[in-house]
Amino acid sequence: MNPPESRDNQAWKTAAVLHFYPKWDKESKILIAMEYQMEKDRIFAGKKGKPEPFQFNREVARVFDDMLNRSVPLYGESIRRQAEITSAYYQEKSRIYDLGCSNGNLGLLILDQMKGREFSLIGVDSSFPMIEKYNRQLVHKTEASSVCIICGFLEDIRIKNASVVLINLTLQFIAPQKRDAVIASVFNGLNSGGILLLTEKTVHRDKVLSDLEIRFYKKFKLENGYSELEISRKREALEKVLVPDTIETHRKRLERAGFKTMDVWLKWFNFASFIAVKP
Ligand SMILES: C[S@@+](CC[C@H](N)C(=O)[O-])C[C@H]1O[C@@H](n2cnc3c(N)ncnc32)[C@H](O)[C@@H]1O
Repeated sequence: MNPPESRDNQAWKTAAVLHFYPKWDKESKILIAMEYQMEKDRIFAGKKGKPEPFQFNREVARVFDDMLNRSVPLYGESIRRQAEITSAYYQEKSRIYDLGCSNGNLGLLILDQMKGREFSLIGVDSSFPMIEKYNRQLVHKTEASSVCIICGFLEDIRIKNASVVLINLTLQFIAPQKRDAVIASVFNGLNSGGILLLTEKTVHRDKVLSDLEIRFYKKFKLENGYSELEISRKREALEKVLVPDTIETHRKRLERAGFKTMDVWLKWFNFASFIAVKP
């Protein structure tokens, strides 16, 4: 496909800031950049009345990349490093699980990192529109035969023979009373020396620091072009849908499951990325 010249140039300008796709070929970058430009997240702009609870429906799937880039600090850096860590910890003939894989941004980076190696990547997501988008992105990938995408609830997946499990910004959407069981099942399905990479929006247990994190997160969103109205309407829509834990709650849950070696390898105000290693 040859995009029109002007669109091409415009798309390349956008591609330059999409630094989380460093190894993509030119055509893929143009296509992604065009999609990025066309599908801007305006979901919470301009609508009146109380917003519906947030869902990963077709409307969200369409603007998802724009939404993530403008509302998740360090998103590109985080998934790029997670793909690299995955490649470093992958054990031959084992499996990689990406729980809450969405439209495959992380999965595609893992494919790039695993080029030339034999591996199995299992992606799980309960949103059909997200899975459809992931499938479309896989069409041009030679490593697509190593990927199995399941449309289902991650709580129902039996994890087996895993060396890497990734849960990127997804545990926060699981009912709090189910989270222990999810992490325990990850621990049980990991091989010795295998790792869990868990990234979440968090809440600080200290009121002063919590206020600071909230203030800077709002600043980040304003800087990225969201209006005060969009920010407050999205916050309302996410209430009771995205329920963040404190860092301490995550650590204790990981310990209860059996993890002993763990760390926060990336932190930005109210966002934290954990690595936990199975003994
Ligand atoms: C913020 S997105 C995750 C982003 C993605 N991991 C990435 O790296 O770009 C959260 C995803 O979790 C999925 N999800 C929410 N609850 C789920 C569940 N119980 N089982 C499987 N997927 C779920 C949503 O459909 C959505 O695609």
